[in-house]
Amino acid sequence: MDGLDALKAKYLEGVSGAGDEAALEELRLAALGKKGEISLKMRELGRMSPEERQTTGAALNRLKDEIDAALRAKKAALADAALDERLKAEWLDVTLPGRPRRMGTIHPVSRVMDEVTAIFADMGFAVAEGPQVESDWYNFDALNIPPEHPARQEHDTFFMARAEGDNRPPHVLRTHTSPVQIRAMTEQGAPIRVIAPGRVYRMDMDQTHTPMFHQIEGLAIGRDISMANLKWVLEEFFTAYFGVKVKTRFRASHFPFTEPSAEVDIQCSWVDGQLRIGEGDGWMEVLGSGMVHPKVLAAANVDLAEWQGFAFGMGIDRMAMLKYGIPDLRAFFESDLRWLKHYGFTPLDVPTVFGGVGG
Ligand code: DAH
Repeated sequence: MDGLDALKAKYLEGVSGAGDEAALEELRLAALGKKGEISLKMRELGRMSPEERQTTGAALNRLKDEIDAALRAKKAALADAALDERLKAEWLDVTLPGRPRRMGTIHPVSRVMDEVTAIFADMGFAVAEGPQVESDWYNFDALNIPPEHPARQEHDTFFMARAEGDNRPPHVLRTHTSPVQIRAMTEQGAPIRVIAPGRVYRMDMDQTHTPMFHQIEGLAIGRDISMANLKWVLEEFFTAYFGVKVKTRFRASHFPFTEPSAEVDIQCSWVDGQLRIGEGDGWMEVLGSGMVHPKVLAAANVDLAEWQGFAFGMGIDRMAMLKYGIPDLRAFFESDLRWLKHYGFTPLDVPTVFGGVGG
């Protein structure tokens, strides 16, 4: 019996002092393994008298269970300690403020295109597109600007180079978004209501002109669409865009692709060198418009006997400058990060009519 007590003391002490799982496994083998001390003692039972065997056997079994339980308990304790250790090492303060990430901004021109598109979409206009490299037929002829027409010179057109012997029709960088009128009508027929925002190109460069700039074209063709509808649509648009009631003034003008034609001014005033849209008795020209010329309808295979409508064309860059107080057009295209940061918009702020694109 003394021998068993000594064994018990030895193993329980060993277990409690074990530093890791490997040490525990070593102790388990030494005590309970096939050739372990307890197992060897079990084998001796065979040589004992029945009475002796009974008491010693029971004592050995108890000892075996005790050591086994101690081993398991210690193993669990070691695992807990290891987990605690790990949790401490990998601790993370989720309440710390995030590291600021540099975010790009939406260019004012893109922003204004989105705003304008949202407003016209609300009035039932879809977006139409056309190529920036355009044939001179779409850019001029189909819009009733024949080759000898002075408007061709006024547009300061960029012509695409053609190799000698290349007989394809001449192509230009489109000088306005008006050719999209022809494409949209040819593809969709009438009735139709579209706007066409996009880049246009003219050989021009000074404080108020850049060789590439942006326009938005509008086109509405129906059975009885008139100048009155044009005026209503434009006043709705300007009022939504600037966030204040804006009056318009139509002045008789001339464009080859409209008859009659009108230039449109919006009401404004200058107060202490500051421009105010929608108040005062000043006027500022913002777009060209008119009733689509019969020759233009014919070029797009629209039946003149049945259909008529209005068109307009407006500079987007200018609209952005007016609304967001941007003084110099050229800065739009210089990609100066400080400028973009200052005048740019957060990408998460998507303009909607119900959210109020105005003001
Ligand atoms: N295309 C003209 C330009 O670039 C603008 C314009 C005027 C467009 C009258 C139109 C229009 O649709 O009806 O100067």
